[in-house]
Amino acid sequence: MVYAIKAHNLTKKLGKKEVLRALSLEAPAGTVVGLLGPNGAGKTTTVRILSTLLPVDSGRVEICGIDASAQPGRIRGLIGLTGQFAAVDMVLTGRENVELVARLYRIGRAEARRRTAEVLARFGLDEVAGQPVKTYSGGMRRRLDLATSILMRPRVLFLDEPTTGLDLESRLGLWAEIETLVRDGTTVLLTTQYLDEADRLASSITVLDHGRTVAQGSPTELKSRVGGDRVEFVLADPAQIDTAVSLLRTVGEQEPVVDRSLAQVTVRLGGDVSAVAEMLRQLRDTDVQVVTHVVRQPTLDDVFLALTGSRAAAAAEEAPAARNGRRTAGKGADR
Ligand SMILES: Nc1ncnc2c1ncn2[C@@H]1O[C@H](COP(=O)(O)OP(=O)(O)OP(=O)(O)O)[C@@H](O)[C@H]1O
Ligand SMILES: [Mg+2]
Repeated sequence: MVYAIKAHNLTKKLGKKEVLRALSLEAPAGTVVGLLGPNGAGKTTTVRILSTLLPVDSGRVEICGIDASAQPGRIRGLIGLTGQFAAVDMVLTGRENVELVARLYRIGRAEARRRTAEVLARFGLDEVAGQPVKTYSGGMRRRLDLATSILMRPRVLFLDEPTTGLDLESRLGLWAEIETLVRDGTTVLLTTQYLDEADRLASSITVLDHGRTVAQGSPTELKSRVGGDRVEFVLADPAQIDTAVSLLRTVGEQEPVVDRSLAQVTVRLGGDVSAVAEMLRQLRDTDVQVVTHVVRQPTLDDVFLALTGSRAAAAAEEAPAARNGRRTAGKGADR
C-alpha cells in the first residue's frame, strides 16, 4: 500500500506539558483519516507537526515517502493546510485573497488569475469573489480558506476543524467538497470534535485524549464500541431520577447515564428505535413524569464515556479543583 501520511510514535512536549504521547497514524493515499478529540487533545499540534511547522521531540513523520526531519521543504511543496482559524484578510476581496497567495507561490500573473478563478468557482464563490471578505459568512470564509489551500493542487491536505462553528447546510456543503477532492486523489487528514463528521468522511479514525490515543480504527469499528443512537429523557422532578434509572436499566442496551443538574437520563438504544415508545410507556406506568425526550446520534462525549468510562474533559480544565469538580459531576453522570 502507498501511504501519503505515516507518523510513528510521535511525542511532543510544549512547555512542561506532554502534548503528544506516542501517537502513530497512517493514511493510505487517496483516503481521509480523522483525528477526533476534545479541546486540548493535541489535534492542532499533530497537524502542525505533520505539516512540518513544528518539529517532534521523538518519532518519525513521512509524507508521500519523504522524511519530514530530513526534507521539510520538499514536503511543503506537496501539502496544503487549512488552519483552525480562517487565515484570510478581511479587507481584501475573496479574489484578491486567493491571488495574493498564488503570487506568494510565484505563479505568473496570468496563471494566478486562471487558478484563482478555477478554485473560486469550485467552491461556489465566483459570485461573491469581488466583495470584501468581511462581508462573508463564516461558511464562506471557510470555503475561501479551503479554496486557497488547494490552489497548488496538494497531494496531501490538512484540515484543522474545517466545520467547527458552521451551520448544518455549510457543513454538508464542505463535506461534499472534501469528498470531491478525495475522489480526485487527494489524501486528507482532518481534525474534528464531531463523531458524525469523522464517520461520514474518514476511513480511519484516531481518537485522542490528552495526547494519548484512546481508540483507532474504521468508523464501523469505533461505532460498534460506542453503540448507536441515544435517547435522552428530561424529567419533571429530579427526585424521580433513581426510579427512572432502575426502570430504564432493564430496557436499555447499557447502564443509563444521568445528569442530575438537568434532571436528565440518557439511554443507549440497540438497533430498535421503537424501544423508546416502550420506555415512555413504562415510565408513565410508574408515574415518572417526562417533560421531553430526544433521540440523537452519539456525540464525542458518548464516545469518551464508552471508551474511557469518563467524559471528554478539555485539557484547559485540568487545574486540580476544576478537575475534581468535573469528575464528581462526571461520576453522577456515569454508571
Ligand atoms: N506553545 C504552547 N506551549 C504550551 N502548551 C501548549 C502550546 N501550544 C499548545 N499547548 C497545549 O497543548 C495541548 C494541546 O493543544 P492543541 O492546540 O494541539 O489541542 P487541540 O486538540 O487542537 O484543541 P482545540 O480543540 O481546542 O483546538 C493543550 O493543552 C494546549 O494548552
Ligand atoms: Mg486545535
